[in-house]
Amino acid sequence: MEKPVGKKYRRVTEATDSERIEMVKEIFTTITGKYDFLNHFLSLRRDIAWRHFSVEKMRFGKTYRMLDVATGTADLAISVAREHSRTRITGLDFVQEMMDVGRVKIERKHLSDRVKMLRGDALYLPFSDSCFDVAAIAFGIRNIPNKIGAIKEMVRVVVPGGQVMVLEMTFPRNGLFRKVYHVYLNRILPRLARAFSPDPGAYHYLGDSIMNFPAPDDLAKLMEKAGLKKVERYALTLGITHLHFGVKG
Ligand SMILES: C[S@@+](CC[C@H](N)C(=O)[O-])C[C@H]1O[C@@H](n2cnc3c(N)ncnc32)[C@H](O)[C@@H]1O
Repeated sequence: MEKPVGKKYRRVTEATDSERIEMVKEIFTTITGKYDFLNHFLSLRRDIAWRHFSVEKMRFGKTYRMLDVATGTADLAISVAREHSRTRITGLDFVQEMMDVGRVKIERKHLSDRVKMLRGDALYLPFSDSCFDVAAIAFGIRNIPNKIGAIKEMVRVVVPGGQVMVLEMTFPRNGLFRKVYHVYLNRILPRLARAFSPDPGAYHYLGDSIMNFPAPDDLAKLMEKAGLKKVERYALTLGITHLHFGVKG
């Protein structure tokens, strides 16, 4: 029997900011059960390597606290806890269903004493100024219309000299690979998603949001505008993902 095409979401360029936020909440509430599997499958497990690369760049020394913004199912938070043994991590997300999956993983890995999950909005972080060594967001900023607002909030909560990191999927600049990746995002990924996902429309949104995400140079400028110094950036896997990070002055 033919699989249902599922709900169609508005294009990123057509939706208002508030419509986009509602879309993001609906998408992540719906795909929760399959999120980890599809993430690893559709990226050929590169997502794990990309998070690991980011975690290795993290530096702790004052508070030993790390904030994982838009933590989802807590993969970044768990990776930090494993790599940096003295740290305490808070994962924050506004979709409870994603965090519930994360919480089960944290318990299974016996990390509940070091990794806490908190419901909240990236634009209004419920923390006082300067209380984390590192604040990071992995594959989350693409879903936030007010990107500079979210980055400024991360800058606010890290200590002076602390790091703010953004790991995000990007649309490659290189001509030929750009064409191949365009076909992957627009033709192959939605078909694969239709076979496995309860909400295949979510994967149309994924492609659309990647293609409409700022270029690495522009993201670096945005981070500087948000108050970060020494912004560094790393292209990962032929530039389909970039890690950017800077320090609070
Ligand atoms: C693609 S998932 C990324 C999850 C995780 N960081 C990872 O590495 O797999 C994006 C997450 O961002 C969350 N999110 C989007 N906008 C948010 C906001 N304004 N505040 C908090 N969470 C948000 C969604 O609920 C979703 O769980």
